[in-house]
Amino acid sequence: MKKNILQIYPWINDRELYYLKKVIKSTFVTENKYTKLLEDKFKKLTNSRYAISVNNWTLGLFASLKSLDVGPGDEVIVPDMTFIASSNAVLLAGAKVVLCDVDPETLCLDTKKLHPLINSRTKAVMPVHLYGNSCDLDAIKKLRKKKNFFIIEDAAQAVGVKYKGKHVGPIGDVGGFSFYGNKLITTGEGGMIVTNNKKIYDSIYSLKNHGRKKKGIFIHNKIGYNFMFTELQAAMGLAQVDKLKKIIRSKLNLYNNYNKELKSIEQIKFVKPTQKSSRVHWFTNILCNNSRLRNFLKKKNIQTRRAFYPLHMQPCYKNNKNIIKKGKFPNSINVYKNLISLPSAVQLNNKDLKYIIKSIKVFFDNDKFRS
Ligand SMILES: Cc1ncc(COP(=O)(O)O)c(C=O)c1O
Repeated sequence: MKKNILQIYPWINDRELYYLKKVIKSTFVTENKYTKLLEDKFKKLTNSRYAISVNNWTLGLFASLKSLDVGPGDEVIVPDMTFIASSNAVLLAGAKVVLCDVDPETLCLDTKKLHPLINSRTKAVMPVHLYGNSCDLDAIKKLRKKKNFFIIEDAAQAVGVKYKGKHVGPIGDVGGFSFYGNKLITTGEGGMIVTNNKKIYDSIYSLKNHGRKKKGIFIHNKIGYNFMFTELQAAMGLAQVDKLKKIIRSKLNLYNNYNKELKSIEQIKFVKPTQKSSRVHWFTNILCNNSRLRNFLKKKNIQTRRAFYPLHMQPCYKNNKNIIKKGKFPNSINVYKNLISLPSAVQLNNKDLKYIIKSIKVFFDNDKFRS
């Protein structure tokens, strides 16, 4: 029997060990020069003035919201199709979440449905660059003419993604990335916030470091928390950034192979890139309304993944008065029903890739006779 082919796993090798050894030998394991180096790399990568490492992007989102003074009485618009951390961060900040449906083709916030949701309480809009596809940021910016709101880019899944030639993250007021284990690059847990605004930077740094400007001071002007990074995470991060170009290229290669071999199958649709954006194929996703495919692949020891569960359907949000569900969410429901994330790990070898593609072809060939 074929060994299990995992949907995703990180690419970790001697490069990480090289940096980790340096940190361990130095015995300086809390934020220090490697963290600063990683922040500098992200400033360069995203062309942003400031970069702030955090212990995870969920709390990075929370700190970003707090830095913009988002709190009780405010509303933040969040796409219905995203990982629940996007909306939970808003709830943690004390504001209400207003859910918006997603575009059926790009799976990102449907900017045509955004307009009616904006009102005097709207403090921020949170575009989520889902699966490495950029949101239509110009369309969101255009809506600011009606009511000035902040834009917080949830780019957790979008390291390397560009919109109109600019890296996503600092295009809005503030944004950031997740370094969770399954992300494009990983530090185990971790995240990076980017912004071009000094006030936002100062506020976030203070929130992440007990309300002070730097370590070693024990008079605290503000109430803050501990969202600090570690040098061990930074060591991992530096090694991963060294590999970033290769990771992006290899994911594109996987996508191109899947696309070339499977696009002629009528029942399969590939997710479209947003116009004027260059996406990164964190996962290769297909939309396919044949629910038997996932089970068939599972029996072949090929692991796949479904889309996120639409936020408006989440059991924990059922009777939550801070979750506003105006209108319907046909597109996010559809994405949930039909999306399949195919194995997308950098180290997926050619033999396994061919086996996956062949299995999908066999499934549809057999299916013809069944239906
Ligand atoms: C869209 C989205 N937002 C937020 C997060 C939260 O990031 P983290 O796991 O680093 O807290 C994730 C990560 O899983 C995510 O995919």
